[in-house]
Amino acid sequence: MMITLLSIKDFFSTLFASYSADEHSINRLFIIYSLFSLFVVLLIGGAIILFIIKYNSKKKPEEPKQIFGHKNIEIIWTVIPFLIVMYFLFETVRTMNSISSPVQEGKRPDVIVIAHQWWWELRYPNARVITANELHIPVGKRFLMEIMSEDVIHSWWVPGLGPKMDAIPGRPNLSWISANTQGIYSGSCSEYCGTQHAGMRINVIAENSADYYKWVKHQQTAPDVPKDSIAQKGAMLFNQKACLGCHSISQDFNKMHVGPDLSHFASRQTILSGMLSNTRENVHRFLEDPQKVKEGVLMPNFRMKEDELNKILTYLEELK
Ligand code: CUA
Repeated sequence: MMITLLSIKDFFSTLFASYSADEHSINRLFIIYSLFSLFVVLLIGGAIILFIIKYNSKKKPEEPKQIFGHKNIEIIWTVIPFLIVMYFLFETVRTMNSISSPVQEGKRPDVIVIAHQWWWELRYPNARVITANELHIPVGKRFLMEIMSEDVIHSWWVPGLGPKMDAIPGRPNLSWISANTQGIYSGSCSEYCGTQHAGMRINVIAENSADYYKWVKHQQTAPDVPKDSIAQKGAMLFNQKACLGCHSISQDFNKMHVGPDLSHFASRQTILSGMLSNTRENVHRFLEDPQKVKEGVLMPNFRMKEDELNKILTYLEELK
């Protein structure tokens, strides 16, 4: 009971939360529609209740006055809904226009979002950075995203920051994203895309400009060569086990990524597209039996021995 009440409270407190100008416009439109709908429900519901009471009295059945055709009433019930619908159209077009403002000719997207079953590849074409699942943006700057898919239809949605946008194979879509306050904003895939649709979460990390550019600079550097001898053995195993067949540690823009680029894996807060926090225990659990942790995932079970797992885990921890 308590959990249900808390969930309801949580639902309403996050329903109208907005952390960007775009989301603010969307919420405004949502409130306009909701208030009008509420008014209609109260009007109709109220009239039904009123008439039930008035004309259902067993003691004194009373036949209402019958009206056959009434020009004025007909004009009123045509004109008022027409004006309301026109107002909705005006507000909707205005909101759509403000959230999807035109893109200058020749402008390259700030980030390319590529949806995969079941994770998000994030490419920053200008900065030459490739990462996964955690989108970093600077506070106060509007980023242009090009959203596409490698397999089936997915949908990008971070409710606190802006509109939903479908990721469709072969048809890139453009959408803007911004945040006016620092923070981590969560979202998820919003178009059913298979077994792990629910395990395809998004975290947007909005930082101040200095931190953002620091992050970019760090991502641009190649990961350090492992110093620790166990990590060095882990790096060798990483090559032997053909991990590079799907994952790269080079942020190669020409490569089609089957699994996330792991160049700076240890600098991410979560693994498996936001499903678990990035701790040694969680990565261990996943590598030991990927299907048990994320059913349907493409990652094969390499049936590694405990000491092999330890080497790989130590190596991954060094990919800061
Ligand atoms: Cu991807 Cu649902």
